Amino acid sequence: MCGIVGYVGPKRASDILLAGLASLEYRGYDSAGIAIAEEGRVDVTRRVGKLANLSAAVAADPPAGVIGIGHTRWATHGRPNEENAHPHTDCAGRIAVVHNGIIENYLELREELVAAGHTFRSETDTETIAHLLESLYEGDLTAAVAAALRRLHGSYAIAVLHADHPGTIVAARLDSPLIIGVGEGENLVASDIPAVLRHTREILVLEDGEVATVDANSVTVVDRDGAPVVSERMHIEWDLDAAEKGGYEDFMLKEIHEQPRALRETLRGRVGDDGLIQLSELDMTDEQVRSIDRVFITACGTSFHAGLVAKTLIETWARIPVEVVVSSEFRYRDPLVDDRTLVVAITQSGETADTLAGVREARQRGGKVIAITNVVGSRVTRESDGVIYTHAGPEIGVAATKTFTAQIAALYVLALYLAQTRGTLDREQIGGIWAHLQDVPGHVETILSDLSAVQECAAVYKDRYSSLFLGRGIGVPVAMEGALKLKEISYIHAEAYAAGEMKHGPIALITSEVPVVVVATASDTYEKVVSNIQEVRARGAEVISVATQDDHDIAKHSEHVLYVPEVPELLSAILAVVPLQLLAYYIAKYRGCNVDQPRNLAKSVTVE
Ligand code: F6R
Repeated sequence: MCGIVGYVGPKRASDILLAGLASLEYRGYDSAGIAIAEEGRVDVTRRVGKLANLSAAVAADPPAGVIGIGHTRWATHGRPNEENAHPHTDCAGRIAVVHNGIIENYLELREELVAAGHTFRSETDTETIAHLLESLYEGDLTAAVAAALRRLHGSYAIAVLHADHPGTIVAARLDSPLIIGVGEGENLVASDIPAVLRHTREILVLEDGEVATVDANSVTVVDRDGAPVVSERMHIEWDLDAAEKGGYEDFMLKEIHEQPRALRETLRGRVGDDGLIQLSELDMTDEQVRSIDRVFITACGTSFHAGLVAKTLIETWARIPVEVVVSSEFRYRDPLVDDRTLVVAITQSGETADTLAGVREARQRGGKVIAITNVVGSRVTRESDGVIYTHAGPEIGVAATKTFTAQIAALYVLALYLAQTRGTLDREQIGGIWAHLQDVPGHVETILSDLSAVQECAAVYKDRYSSLFLGRGIGVPVAMEGALKLKEISYIHAEAYAAGEMKHGPIALITSEVPVVVVATASDTYEKVVSNIQEVRARGAEVISVATQDDHDIAKHSEHVLYVPEVPELLSAILAVVPLQLLAYYIAKYRGCNVDQPRNLAKSVTVE
């Protein structure tokens, strides 16, 4: 949720920290701060609001120090004000700490430290770490951090600076991502790869319980027992361009336009010369695949909507019952998982706390867990039995777009593989579906080549306070995703419903002021969708339909039509969602909203 960056080397640390924080700002943006060690002291600068406020304060009096830590915050404990912004310091102001995650026992520790004479200045759990370190420090910073970790319960990634050690950052993690960027005569610490990419492509991923001592020329890692660890280096192939705007006004718009490439990359290499779908990542024998008697899909938010699409695909093609459960509910409902259950955890970030908890629960019960994620080396990849990567490239906009459609592409592959192995579709049927699937990225390009209809529509409805999204079958999760996109970036209330369910309640909301967005692409239930459109229009609603190219009739039933190319019904989810992403995007833009950093949201939700 929050972003961490640290630097030690020959250059002015504040410049590097601010640039690193800029690439992490999507992780949290209610306040930001840096601490620089210099001349035997630690100087902290913090500001509420966007990073620009901190940058202006630092520019007014730039510190010359060459080592520092920085943080961009998404509030969990304590309001977003300057006192609660990171870095936090101890009583003497000689130790500075930045932290992602939650310290669950902070109240108990705080009471103990206050009783011992420590004075707290913030409401945060993080400040507890600074005072705890002060109480444990006996000249060896790494030892103090290791001792502090033994007292902390919860999840954390931390970076620590001490005025007595002006060449060293100590970093540690448990259940929250942290990497070390290994450079030439300089090293970095960060919660996410884009923060270090300007300086190096060589990274080490810290594992849970590990403590890293980072100097300009060395990185030493020990495990929770203090035993040395040789961490494996990873070379990052993608460059910073992939994480920058590349001429687009916002990351979200860029990422919407990157969908054809993300889809092609995710589908690439999935069919062998023999015409069979390949999915070695599942790492299951054919016998094991045939013995699966139930699939659970667990995910949050947009990834949950991808899971709902997958339910239809797997049930229709592979004939296995599928239950899709939001991760925050999954593990608390005593799920019926055993060794014949396949559990699919969908998480673009690979760090969502609730989904990770679901993965652990499922594995404990003997289920086979396959993760679908976009982030190489993320937590979920290390906790699951197998991983299918979506190759969407870094997604910076907080609202998920290209990772959503890439997840659906990966789920097509999974559903077809299950059907192939279980013999519920024959080779010819799979070949037919695959041929259509190969055309989908090109169809998305077609949709993106003319934005005039969606822009016009957004201009008409930008000032409405509420909206309804309807669909049937695979159009239901598409409607849900369209509604989620609209509400999270434009702040217009949006509610999604199965179109047939609408007359059982939500129809009461219909007035001429509440536009209704209908997923009305070609399907077996198309006629029924048209009847639902007539029901809402009879009550004064204006209708925006997403429909299949050449469906001229739909224009008679709608104020606006957003056309998408024709594909078989089960492949329509990816195409139908793109106009809805764009509709949300333009409505939000026309309302003057910050689409990349909507209020109260964070890119990866690493707390439960
Ligand atoms: C919405 C959005 C969120 C995420 C959700 C899960 O645009 O981005 O709803 O989909 O927080 O995140 P991941 O997929 O990283 O587990």
